[in-house]
Amino acid sequence: MNPKNNNKVIIVSNRLPVKIERKEDGLVISPSEGGLATGLGSIYNAGNNIWVGWPGIIPQDEAEKAFITEELRALNLVPVFLTEEEILGYYEGFSNEVLWPICHYSPSYAVYDTDNWNTYVQVNEKFGQIVREYIDSEDTVWIHDYQLMLLPNVLRKQYEKLSIGYFQHIPFPPDEVFRSIPWRNELLLGILGADLTAFHTFNDAQHFLDACTHILNIPIRNNYLQIRGRSAYVEVYPMGIDFDKFNNLSKDAGVKERALEIKSYFKQRKIILSIDRLDYSKGIIQRIVAFEELLKNYPELRDQVVLYMLVVPSRDKVKQYKRLRDEIDRRVGNINSVYGSTDWTPIAYFYNSYPVEELSALYVAADVCLITSIRDGMNLVSKEYIASKEETSGVLVLSELAGASKELIDAVHVNPNSVDQISHALHFALHMSEEEKLNRMKANFDLVKKFNIHHWVEIFFARMKEIKIQQRKEFAR
Ligand code: G6P
Repeated sequence: MNPKNNNKVIIVSNRLPVKIERKEDGLVISPSEGGLATGLGSIYNAGNNIWVGWPGIIPQDEAEKAFITEELRALNLVPVFLTEEEILGYYEGFSNEVLWPICHYSPSYAVYDTDNWNTYVQVNEKFGQIVREYIDSEDTVWIHDYQLMLLPNVLRKQYEKLSIGYFQHIPFPPDEVFRSIPWRNELLLGILGADLTAFHTFNDAQHFLDACTHILNIPIRNNYLQIRGRSAYVEVYPMGIDFDKFNNLSKDAGVKERALEIKSYFKQRKIILSIDRLDYSKGIIQRIVAFEELLKNYPELRDQVVLYMLVVPSRDKVKQYKRLRDEIDRRVGNINSVYGSTDWTPIAYFYNSYPVEELSALYVAADVCLITSIRDGMNLVSKEYIASKEETSGVLVLSELAGASKELIDAVHVNPNSVDQISHALHFALHMSEEEKLNRMKANFDLVKKFNIHHWVEIFFARMKEIKIQQRKEFAR
């Protein structure tokens, strides 16, 4: 196989779509089931296309490195191995202690450290070097997310005609918040190496354009700008989910049986479900406080309702995440000890990751799905819940500060910073008529079904193609 085969698609993201587990008898590598992996599956699995990213593991020696590389190549995946220092500076330090809090409108959580910035620059270059081993000037490269903001321009410097797309899965903040980052110019110019930069919502795209005008002084024409003689487009493509997967699972006999078991375990009490990664942007504390308000303000609901809260471990080496975990433990313990009884534990809290079948059973069983993100690029859990509700009823209570709220307009929207609003919304959801539940769910369901992950990938690539054709004409002039 000639890796430099023209017209390939190269997907690049911080993490590769694989799970690598170190078991007693060696490493086990399996493709991940994440939404992005499914959506892009038909792309990176085809022909000479590849996906470049970090395999999430530090090999013990050269032999293990070679083994991982070979196994991954068979799956069309190319690993970028990171050292411990690189993980600390690039991933934990700069990506998750500067870009994550800034893009989630939480500048007070940001920790600026020049060494971390330098490592971020180095690692983006490292990704660039690996991509270069495979690239040909007629290829299309699709870069994903904030860990790789510099990569578009790293590649652009060498390949003038390469087709480069950048999608940011997290929000883009107002320009004055982004300005707080000492290296904001470099970051913006890094992204602008792409021909097409896209976000989940109109606001994110507008904030990015504002930053280009106000920080870089680049004039904007509607949604596009000229940089070093090239056109760069900024557009909005809200990401969908693998609708069929969640919809089919919800109708699976095993999943349905498990959902009944969950219901009966909680003695048919109403189940309010929340699922998220451990993250301060998810509003987990606000949710716990709001649930306590519900129990305080509506005593008749005590013993009638359970908050099933699944928190998936994440970034546990980053200081703010450790603190958050302790805070959740403390608050959940407090509510359970104050309100609970021998027969009823108000909050069933799990700090774990579950297989998708169990998630599906929870979606089927849940009467309410509660999402209280204080800032969220999209929030795919809200869409997974809806796709799982064709046969059972339920209500989605959704933060208006999650990207998904712009699409799922028939959910019950709340401002996550108001515990009163959340607790009233929960009361409203728990007492909603079946007819209203059905009507609201149906409208959201049709939307999630239609604008699924495959649709998202299709329209992004179609747009990349159009831009490529247009730019060829520009180059020819
Ligand atoms: C968010 C980001 C992704 C990231 C994921 C998991 O969804 O947009 O880029 O991969 O969180 O976080 P992690 O730090 O574990 O990769």
